[in-house]
Amino acid sequence: MKLFLRFSLVIGGVVFFVFSVFFFSLFFVEKNYLQQQGEQARWDDMHRFSLVCQESILSADEIVLMNYIRGLKKSQEVLWAFFLDKDQQIVTHSDVRLKGQKLKNEDFLKDLGKGISRSFVREGKSVLEYAMPVQTGNGVIGEVRIAYDMNHISRHVRLALQDIAKRYFGVSLICFVLGILLAAMAARNLSHPIQQLINGIQRTSQGDRNAFIPSDRQDEIGELAQEFNHMVVKLGELDQLKDGFIHTVSHDLRNPLSAISMSSKMLLSGDYDPVTDNQKQVVNIILSSADRLRTMVNNILDLAKMREKGLSYDKNPLSPKKIMQDIAGLYHAFSCEKGVELTVDCPSDVPMIEADEEKLHRIFTNLVSNAIKFTRRGGTICLGAGHVRGSGEVEFFVRDSGIGISPEALPGLFTKFSSVSSIDPHFKPLQGTGLGLVIVKALVEGHGGQIRVSSEMKKGTTFYWTIPVSG
Ligand SMILES: Nc1ncnc2c1ncn2[C@@H]1O[C@H](COP(=O)(O)OP(=O)(O)OP(=O)(O)O)[C@@H](O)[C@H]1O
Ligand SMILES: [Mg+2]
Repeated sequence: MKLFLRFSLVIGGVVFFVFSVFFFSLFFVEKNYLQQQGEQARWDDMHRFSLVCQESILSADEIVLMNYIRGLKKSQEVLWAFFLDKDQQIVTHSDVRLKGQKLKNEDFLKDLGKGISRSFVREGKSVLEYAMPVQTGNGVIGEVRIAYDMNHISRHVRLALQDIAKRYFGVSLICFVLGILLAAMAARNLSHPIQQLINGIQRTSQGDRNAFIPSDRQDEIGELAQEFNHMVVKLGELDQLKDGFIHTVSHDLRNPLSAISMSSKMLLSGDYDPVTDNQKQVVNIILSSADRLRTMVNNILDLAKMREKGLSYDKNPLSPKKIMQDIAGLYHAFSCEKGVELTVDCPSDVPMIEADEEKLHRIFTNLVSNAIKFTRRGGTICLGAGHVRGSGEVEFFVRDSGIGISPEALPGLFTKFSSVSSIDPHFKPLQGTGLGLVIVKALVEGHGGQIRVSSEMKKGTTFYWTIPVSG
């Protein structure tokens, strides 16, 4: 999972969690607050009721009391309200028919203290009844009771909570969306420099010595970027040092190598004293080793030249079919000797290309010699080309049925000195310098084309590359 996505999910998750906790805590606190407020309001009602009863008894004015009870009953929450005397006889009741009746036994309450509340179910309704003593200077003269409909109270609280939830939900949603946006920004802020660093490392590993990354941040990531840029500079310096060294050494090796080759050829020509068969064999080994060494030195020098000032290309219109037939002819003897079939597959409608013939030959010889080197006896190699319509390019390919290249080795294939070891212990091709493909890539790109490879272990490898069409 990408760091940006991971950071966004983690920070977004934290924001979501914090908001959920905040929202539910708020909801819980509000619910408690509403319930406590309701409880307090009901006890206040009881106090007032008790005082009204007290005044009514003292002033012997029952009308005030009756009006008060009527007022109480108007509230939808109140199921009933009444005043009892000391003998548990109802003095005034919200239901006037019960006035003067004695309270039923089950409704007796003892030890009211300053007031008590109880809940029960009557006629299918959940009832919450409060009772409070009524006192005058002569002590307790009776008690007052008010019964509330609990369903009504709960509905009231629920509606109030819904109202609060609606208001807070809008605000929370805005904050949540802002939080997620901030989380995405913070995630990008962290992951973007890391991505830049990865790109820089990838470019550096592919040989780019100018893959500097922005290092203006004043934190650890900024320090890391500075260190990375410092490392790129050092690598560039080392590369230059190494190229200079290789250039000098390779150049100095060329002349003695040519001398060895020429001397060996002269010995073999028979112009001097005749050589025995055994001596011929030894001289042949010297000659082929000197040739290999010269190819290697030439490759190294070519690369050094390419890096220094680039190669010049002498481009001319060329026929892809003819080039491939020439190459197949050149390698005919070698492929027969190795027991590998070499064919050309080029449709007649493939147009002429614009290329430097000598360099195109080098591309082919490198790829075909690789194909022959890494294909077992009895295998096949096919050279081909096709017109990529719409792109103004011809795509060439060299396909073999050889040992293949492992997927892990493919990305580093076009880098210097890459040599993939064969997984088959019985198949040990001649060790090369590991520079052939680097040169091929540079030559293809020098023509304005591109090269790619597709390979499957034990099935074979195909190199594809493009060259622009002529005219
Ligand atoms: N057709 C192929 N099939 C399998 N492996 C290949 C093929 N072409 C290249 N390789 C792998 O890629 C490596 C690099 O190839 P490259 O041509 O650059 O170097 P080389 O052939 O080893 O040496 P030289 O510099 O002499 O060409 C080879 O050593 C080999 O492991
Ligand atoms: Mg090679």
